[in-house]
Amino acid sequence: MSLGSLITMDEFTIQETRKFPQATGELSSLLRDLGLAGKIINKQVRKAGLADLLGKHGATNVQGEEQMKLDVFANDILIRILKNSTDCAGIASEENDNHVCYEDTYSANSKYVVLFDPLDGSSNIDVNASIGTIFSIYRRVSPLGQPCTEEDFLQPGNKLMAAGYIIYGSSTMMVYATKISVNGFTLEPSIGEFCLSHPNMKVPADGKIYSLNQGNTIKYSEGMKQYLNYCMESNKEEGRPYGHRYIGSMVADLHRTLIKGGIFIYPADKSNANGKLRLQYECNPMTFIVEAAGGKGSSGTGNILDIVPTELHQRTPIFIGSKNMVNKAVEFVKAKEAVS
Ligand code: AHG
Ligand code: MN
Ligand code: MN
Repeated sequence: MSLGSLITMDEFTIQETRKFPQATGELSSLLRDLGLAGKIINKQVRKAGLADLLGKHGATNVQGEEQMKLDVFANDILIRILKNSTDCAGIASEENDNHVCYEDTYSANSKYVVLFDPLDGSSNIDVNASIGTIFSIYRRVSPLGQPCTEEDFLQPGNKLMAAGYIIYGSSTMMVYATKISVNGFTLEPSIGEFCLSHPNMKVPADGKIYSLNQGNTIKYSEGMKQYLNYCMESNKEEGRPYGHRYIGSMVADLHRTLIKGGIFIYPADKSNANGKLRLQYECNPMTFIVEAAGGKGSSGTGNILDIVPTELHQRTPIFIGSKNMVNKAVEFVKAKEAVS
C-alpha cells in the first residue's frame, strides 16, 4: 500500500464518529492519547536490550508480582499522558494499589475513566517475545465537576464504551473495539502513525487451536481434564486433534485467536479458585473486543461482561475465542461440576 493511500487511526476514528451526530469526539481524543502512549512504550520496548531496560525493577506490585523495568516505564507513561489528556478523569492500573484521580478542574469535568494493564506478558520481556498494553474506557458514573470515585472503576464490562490493546510483536499494532466493530492499525514507522490494516475484524465461529498453560493440568478440574482430552482426541471430521499454541502473553495469544480463531483458557484450578487473570485489566477488555468481533468470553459459569466487580484487582477464570469452541469447553466444565 502506498503512503498516500494509508488511512491513519485518527482519520478512521473521526470518520466513524461522524456517523453519530451526537458524538462529541472525546472518545476519539482519548484513543489518540492511548495511541501516543503506545508509540512511546513501543520505542522503549524496541531498544530495551541496549538501554538497560530488561530485567526486574526490584519491587512487587499490589498483587505480589515482581515488577519489570518496562512494567514501571509503561505505567508511568500512561498515567502521565492520560493526566494531560483533555478527556480522562482518572485511571486504574494493574500496577497501582488504588485508582488515581486527576484532581485538576479540567479532569474533574472529564467524562471518562481508563483502566489498563500497562505491560501484559512481563515474563516475555527478557526473551524478546510479543508483549502488549491493554486498555478499557468507561463513562464515569460519579457526578461531573468532582473528582472521580472508585465506583467509576467498578463497572461491569457490559458498560464499556471502548477497549483495545497495543501489541509489540513482529510489527506494532493497535486494535480497538467499540460496540459496533473491531479494527486493527499497524504502526507505520516512517510517519509514526497507526494506519488501518485490519478493518472490521471477525473471530471465526470455529477454530483449530487451543491455548492454555497445559503444564497446570494436574491442578485442573475433572471437566477441564476431559476437555483437554477432547482437544487432543483424533476426529478427522471435526478437525481434531487441535493444534496447541501458548505464548504466555494474553495479548499475543488473543491477537492470534482474533485473527485465526481458536480458544484461549485460563481456568480456575486447585490453587486458584478464580484463575489468574484480572477481570478489570485483562478479561473484560479482551472479552469486549472478542464479542464485538463475533466471538465469546465466559467465566465458565456466565458471561465475563456481566460480572459486577467488587474490588479493583479481582480475578476470574476465562474461556474466550471462537463461539462454538467456547460453548463446547464450558459444556465440559459445567457437565462435570453438575455431577460432582
Ligand atoms: P502480566 O504480565 O500483565 O502480569 O500478565 C501475565 C498473564 C497473561 O499475559 C498470560 O496469559 C498469563 O499471565 C500467563 O500465565 P502463566 O505463566 O501462569 O501461564
Ligand atoms: Mn497482563
Ligand atoms: Mn501487566
